[in-house]
Amino acid sequence: MLTAVAAEVTYSNGTLALTATSLAIEPGRFTVLLGPSGAGKSTLLRSFNGLVQLTGGRIEVAGIGDISDSKRLRMHRRQTGMVFQQHHLIGRLNVLANVLTGRLAYHSQLRTLFGFSRAEKELALRAIDRVGLLNEALRRADELSGGQQQRVGIARALVQSPKTILADEPVASLDPATSEQVLSMLHGICRSDGLTAVVSLHQLEFARKFADRIVGLHAGKIVFDGPPSQLDENAVSAIYGNIVPAGARPIKRASIQNTPALGVAS
Ligand SMILES: Nc1ncnc2c1ncn2[C@@H]1O[C@H](COP(=O)(O)OP(=O)(O)OP(=O)(O)O)[C@@H](O)[C@H]1O
Ligand SMILES: [Mg+2]
Repeated sequence: MLTAVAAEVTYSNGTLALTATSLAIEPGRFTVLLGPSGAGKSTLLRSFNGLVQLTGGRIEVAGIGDISDSKRLRMHRRQTGMVFQQHHLIGRLNVLANVLTGRLAYHSQLRTLFGFSRAEKELALRAIDRVGLLNEALRRADELSGGQQQRVGIARALVQSPKTILADEPVASLDPATSEQVLSMLHGICRSDGLTAVVSLHQLEFARKFADRIVGLHAGKIVFDGPPSQLDENAVSAIYGNIVPAGARPIKRASIQNTPALGVAS
């Protein structure tokens, strides 16, 4: 269980990105943080991994405790795989080498000098196989398509043998068909391994399709929390304000089609 207790983030420029927020993420479920641009999705997600410093409240991890302590944060990070929108792959390295960087949290600096064990390489190849890229294992990451690169990002998170996956807009840079394939793969792996997933998305249709639970954010506050079946028109308006994305209800305003922040056109 991952719990935010009155977690609040004000950035150094004075932006209040997350107002005191309490949220318990249940293990083994696929939770989607949904909201328009600037709602605070990345801020909340990153605070779950100590990548954003809270200015109030705390994040607690079952079995570890409050992760504001650096030793506890290290323990938590070791069991938490992070997937980013921009992959953060090293382009000149091959897929296998990129995936192996996911093991670095397990190594002391000294061990890293001696390289990875055979068992770790096997683990990495298994992760690469699971995301369907075994034939590409020795190709340079920068030769791969965007969808393939994100699958490498997922394999890199899996090689940590995580309990939890935190994914910040993992498909925001991909076309809709590839987005659906990548999310479907991530969802399937989390389900079959019983992983806890917290995934931020701005696309309503993907949230509806994959989430067990949707946490809707607007202007740094949780404005909806429930299963996709409860995400009705009122809930959608609370999340998106009066700019409602395509697919949420019959479109009456032409301007909706041109709202890139909502990802309708991407
Ligand atoms: N490092 C930062 N310094 C100052 N303000 C920031 C910083 N990062 C985010 N913000 C602000 O905090 C608010 C929430 O941003 P956040 O990135 O969490 O939103 P988001 O829901 O992830 O948006 P997007 O869909 O565009 O990724 C926004 O007003 C944003 O401008
Ligand atoms: Mg974001």
